[in-house]
Amino acid sequence: MRKKITVVGAGNVGANCAMWIAAKELADVVLVDVVDGVPQGKGLDLLQAGPVNGCDVTITGANDYGPTADSDIVIITAGFPRKPGMSRDDLLLANYAVVKTATEQAAKYSPNAILIVVTNPLDAMVQTALMVSGFPKQRVIGMAGILDTARFRTFIAQELQVSVENVTAVVLGGHGDTMVPLVRLSSVAGIPLTELLSAEKIQAMVERTQNGGAEIVKYLKTGSAYYAPSAAAVEMAESILKDKKKVLPCAAYLEGEYGINGLYVGVPVKLGAKGIEAIYQIKLTADETAALHRSAAAVEELVGVIKKKMAE
Ligand code: APR
Repeated sequence: MRKKITVVGAGNVGANCAMWIAAKELADVVLVDVVDGVPQGKGLDLLQAGPVNGCDVTITGANDYGPTADSDIVIITAGFPRKPGMSRDDLLLANYAVVKTATEQAAKYSPNAILIVVTNPLDAMVQTALMVSGFPKQRVIGMAGILDTARFRTFIAQELQVSVENVTAVVLGGHGDTMVPLVRLSSVAGIPLTELLSAEKIQAMVERTQNGGAEIVKYLKTGSAYYAPSAAAVEMAESILKDKKKVLPCAAYLEGEYGINGLYVGVPVKLGAKGIEAIYQIKLTADETAALHRSAAAVEELVGVIKKKMAE
């Protein structure tokens, strides 16, 4: 029997998740959205690409969660973009309500699923999904680090004119401008990046990575990135469904690791059939530790707003 993935939110990120899943023939897909007709129409359109691409998966759309029952994975991309005049907290609370409903419904119909959260602000939204679902922490994971490292890897490969496949990078911390790229651990086919590029060049790429989302929003004007974010979420789903045990940077719930407790933060994890099967703790320098804790403090502030709302 084929595996089943539900994608909540049939907008830009969600529809492209469905497209990558189908292209890789990973699983049948159910797209769910509140807007009547959109998940159905996009689902049918994607299904009709199957004969062209030679992909035998079923893609359906729905406005309720009945058809999502017994999904192996649920990817949550539903949410609102930030609108003019909206504060960070307004956006936080609007997307909190969306992720809360999506998680309640997804958990009800697929109690054994692994949840992958993409909605921003990422770290606070994935913590919402953990609290609402009551799932074990291994089965609630946030997508951020793969995208951040992919951006960094792209810039490095472009600069050195080498294959993107040769470039590895490590980024820790929250998804946002406080992320912590670990330059000393980035390499090209094992060659330390610091031996290949000047400190100034590397610093410029680090800053471009930290502002990677904003750079795309500036071009698009009315939306945010979706091709790379959806590809990253599907890489996580693939590692889980195929039990590949890839080591990937993801938002994971920390309970003491890196001296952080009770918070989702981006760290290297092993992703397999059980979800997060290991969290890797890298020995950090004092500067890196301080930057990671600054990043965690920014996440904690947002989570505090949500916990207050939940207690009301
Ligand atoms: N349930 C299901 N779908 C919902 C809900 C809900 N409660 N509320 C909103 N949606 C849907 C919208 O109808 C829309 O189709 O979520 C979709 C969001 O799509 P886009 O506006 O295109 O946003 P997108 O670019 O896909 O980004 C989604 O991912 O990367 C993050 O920051 C990004 O938080 C944002 C999310």
